[in-house]
Amino acid sequence: MRWNLAFTIAAALVTLVSAVFDAETGFTFSQYNAAYAIGKSITFRIAVPANVPENASYDSVIQIAAPTDVGWGGLAWGGKMINNPLSVAWQNAQSAVISSRWAPSHSTPQTYTGAQYTVLRTGTRTNGTYWQVTAKCSGCTSFNDVSGRRVILNSRGSNRLAFAYSRARPSQPSSNSSSFPVHEVTNYWAHDFSQGVNSNFDALVTKNM
Ligand code: HEM
Ligand SMILES: *[C@@H]1O[C@H](CO)[C@@H](O)[C@H](O)[C@H]1NC(C)=O
Ligand SMILES: *[C@@H]1O[C@H](CO)[C@@H](O)[C@H](O)[C@H]1NC(C)=O
Ligand SMILES: *[C@@H]1O[C@H](CO)[C@@H](O)[C@H](O)[C@H]1NC(C)=O
Repeated sequence: MRWNLAFTIAAALVTLVSAVFDAETGFTFSQYNAAYAIGKSITFRIAVPANVPENASYDSVIQIAAPTDVGWGGLAWGGKMINNPLSVAWQNAQSAVISSRWAPSHSTPQTYTGAQYTVLRTGTRTNGTYWQVTAKCSGCTSFNDVSGRRVILNSRGSNRLAFAYSRARPSQPSSNSSSFPVHEVTNYWAHDFSQGVNSNFDALVTKNM
C-alpha cells in the first residue's frame, strides 16, 4: 500500500509542473512553485536544450525567483540533500547570487567545482518584492553518486528534485562561497523537464549573457 500512496502523491505533484514562456529571456521553462509558508513560494524554473543524445550530459538553465523575505533558497538536483549538485541562491543588493554546492553530510554544504554557472545578466536582479537569478549550469543535470555511478537526469521526462528554504541570510551575500544558516523548510517533487525544452537553447544563452 505504501507504493500506491507514493504513486498517488507523485502523480499529483507532476501536474504542478507547467511550461512557462519567460518573455524577458525568451526561454520556455518547466516551472514549479515550492511552498515555504502558507501562500508563499519560491519558483524554480528549468530550461533544457532539444536533441540531447541518450546518456550524454547536457547544460541547463536554472531560474530561481523568490520573495525578498527569502534569505536563501536551494535546489537539489538529485532530490535530496546529500551527494548531489546543489544550486543555492540569495539576494545581493539589487542583484542575486547563485552558488555551486555539494553536501557529503547533513551539515553546511561545501563549494562544488563539478558544476559551473554562467550568470545571465537578463533575468538576474532584485526588484521591490522579488530577487531572481538566471544562470546556465554545466554539471547540474549529471553527476557521480557516492558509489561512482554516473547519474544523468532525464531531459525528456520527470526527475525527483528537492528544495530548501531559509529565512536567515548568508553572512557574506556578495560572495558565492559565503556560509549560510540551516534551512527551515525542505520538500521534494517530480519535475517534468519536457515542459522546458528549447530548440534555440545556445542562442538564448548567448543573447542573455
Ligand atoms: C547550513 C547548511 C545546511 C545544514 C546545516 C543542513 C542540515 C540538514 C539536516 C540536519 C537535515 C536532516 C533533517 C532531518 O533528518 O529531519 C537536512 C535535511 C535536508 N536538507 Fe539540509 N542542510 C543545509 C543546507 C541544505 C541545502 C543548501 C539544501 C538544498 C539545496 C538542503 C536540502 C535538504 C533536504 C532536501 C533535506 C531533506 C532530507 C534529505 O534530503 O536528506 N540542505 N539538512
Ligand atoms: C544508456 O545507458 C544505459 C544504462 O547504462 C545503457 O543500458 C544503454 O545502452 C545506454 N544507451 C546508449 C545509447 O548508450
Ligand atoms: C563563484 O564564481 C566564480 C566566478 O564566476 C566561479 O569560478 C566559482 O566556481 C563560483 N563558486 C561557487 C561556489 O559557485
Ligand atoms: C519583480 O520580480 C518578480 C520576479 O521576477 C516578477 O514576478 C514581478 O513581476 C516583478 N515586479 C515588478 C513590479 O516588476
